[in-house]
Amino acid sequence: MQNNEILLSVNDVSKRFGGLTALKGVTFNVKKGEVLGLMGPNGAGKTTLLNVIAGEYNPDTGKIMYKDHNITNMPPHKICHLGIARTYQIPQPFVTLTLQDNLLASTLYGRQLKKKEAISEDEKIFDLVGLTEKKNIIAGSLPTLSLKKLELARALARKPDLLLLDEVAAGTTEKEIPKILNTIKEIRSMGITIIIIEHVIKVLMNVVDRIVVIDKGMQIAEGIPSAIMCDSKVIDAYFGA
Ligand SMILES: Nc1ncnc2c1ncn2[C@@H]1O[C@H](COP(=O)(O)OP(=O)(O)O)[C@@H](O)[C@H]1O
Ligand SMILES: [Mg+2]
Repeated sequence: MQNNEILLSVNDVSKRFGGLTALKGVTFNVKKGEVLGLMGPNGAGKTTLLNVIAGEYNPDTGKIMYKDHNITNMPPHKICHLGIARTYQIPQPFVTLTLQDNLLASTLYGRQLKKKEAISEDEKIFDLVGLTEKKNIIAGSLPTLSLKKLELARALARKPDLLLLDEVAAGTTEKEIPKILNTIKEIRSMGITIIIIEHVIKVLMNVVDRIVVIDKGMQIAEGIPSAIMCDSKVIDAYFGA
């Protein structure tokens, strides 16, 4: 599935919040069909980077190209329309609606689709993320892990070419990890390119082709997982010099 076509290029991206530099000169490419992992300690700037790609924040410097589009200062809904969908680290469901109605809202958004067709699309997505048995439950009464899966389902309902995943496996039990791995692998086999932030190292090591590591907003390493895991700069960032 993976080829050499570049789908996304992030070039010299910086972002400040007041006096705090959240990202500085971040530069990397994502190839079509690739699964790219984003690693870094808490507060490194990973979520900010996804927010900048998704258009939620405008970067202070740098350029982001997606396909042939310069998306650097585009509003989120336009970027979404071009085929980039993301999940939120903190799930944002409609708490009073069932999972089915939550997903339906995403599936129907901006599309000329009959409700019946949407429901049948959603069945496949619920199946893929492992929520079929919970689809009639009110979102607000479910634990974080289910809501993370709902986040993923809602992002998939956008039919993205590029999916940005922010810690979808956080809160996962050991027993659930193989299921999450399968889901991600299946999404990839659908031809969807993925950028994934994940603290569960086992998930990251098993699904990504390449990893970019950021620390204090700066990119400190980039490479295949086995090389990243023994990179001294990465070890220092996690365990202190
Ligand atoms: N909207 C914001 N306003 C001010 N500071 C922010 C904002 N978003 C993130 N930050 C800060 O930017 C830094 C990077 O945060 P974040 O990207 O969430 O890190 P990570 O996802 O790697 O844990 C942190 O110091 C965080 O407090
Ligand atoms: Mg984060």
